[in-house]
Amino acid sequence: MVADLATVEAALRDGIRHDPDEVGVPMTDLFAAGGKRVRPALVLLSARLGQYDLDQLTPAAMAVELTHAATLVHDDVIDRSSVRRGRPTVAASLGDEPAIVVGDFYFAKAYEHAARTNSTEVVAILARAVMEICAGEVRQQAIRYRYSTGVDEYMQRIEAKTATLLAACCDIGAVLAGLPPGQRSALHEYGRMLGLAFQIADDVLDYLGSEGEIGKPIGKDVTEGFATLPLMVAMEDESVAGRLRSVLQDGRELTAQEAPAVVEIVRESGAPQRALERAQEYAAAASLQLRAVAAGPVRGALAALTEYVVSRKL
Ligand code: IPE
Ligand code: IPE
Ligand code: MG
Ligand code: MG
Repeated sequence: MVADLATVEAALRDGIRHDPDEVGVPMTDLFAAGGKRVRPALVLLSARLGQYDLDQLTPAAMAVELTHAATLVHDDVIDRSSVRRGRPTVAASLGDEPAIVVGDFYFAKAYEHAARTNSTEVVAILARAVMEICAGEVRQQAIRYRYSTGVDEYMQRIEAKTATLLAACCDIGAVLAGLPPGQRSALHEYGRMLGLAFQIADDVLDYLGSEGEIGKPIGKDVTEGFATLPLMVAMEDESVAGRLRSVLQDGRELTAQEAPAVVEIVRESGAPQRALERAQEYAAAASLQLRAVAAGPVRGALAALTEYVVSRKL
């Protein structure tokens, strides 16, 4: 499994090296800077439960990681983020316009790899996931600077932008492995729940993490106008909500002094830890889905991933 992920990694780096420099150089830097490669791992692990053909799985795993990388390049334009994986973002080093085209190039390249699986279903799953991510990103713009947005909207948002792709990774692995429908849908649901837990944990890290560890700036979400679960949980406490409401006015961007103050109030309230408990509930629900697959090392690895996503520091 580790060796197979290394095969995928080598194929990715090799492929990017042959791309035109204008797009290949920034993407090489992004890959060299790090990243957890959770998505290709999900493709390979899911496929391990059935017929496992690495020649077909490698392009599928490459496709999902390149899709992810492309979303990150675009996300950093949208979020005006200057640091990713501890390095300047593509947008910061080349500008927004080139970053958009670099992202576009790698979305296209992802489909090219998906097509190499010779499974139209895989291409369709990936396409639908990207369509959902884009729809989610557009909806997210509508709630920018709307700090009063609620948990229901938040859950829909993270489902679209993150859970969809993790679910698609499991689904792609299941399809290529020829798993029966029951196992396939359980894995899909596992990926979805894992994704929800994963994004909540990411949003908690935005309040509790350190830039040195997570490789991206802290407090960025509310600074950019996005209310996430830690803020919503903090608002559940009336005395904390009162203090927050005096700063957070819908439609207004926070100043450079206000944003860190909001982050501090949320941190002090203990809300990020309580939000993380909700992530743990989704992780546990993901784990329960695994009852549908045979016990063994693969199920163990998938279960371990549910614990990792809520304990990770990066
Ligand atoms: C970051 O994803 C974007 C989110 C969905 C939270 P990852 O945390 O998987 O990023 P890398 O690939 O490990 O850098
Ligand atoms: C995840 O959201 C973005 C995508 C799914 C593309 P975030 O905006 O929280 O991701 P980070 O924190 O920038 O990695
Ligand atoms: Mg972002
Ligand atoms: Mg984030």
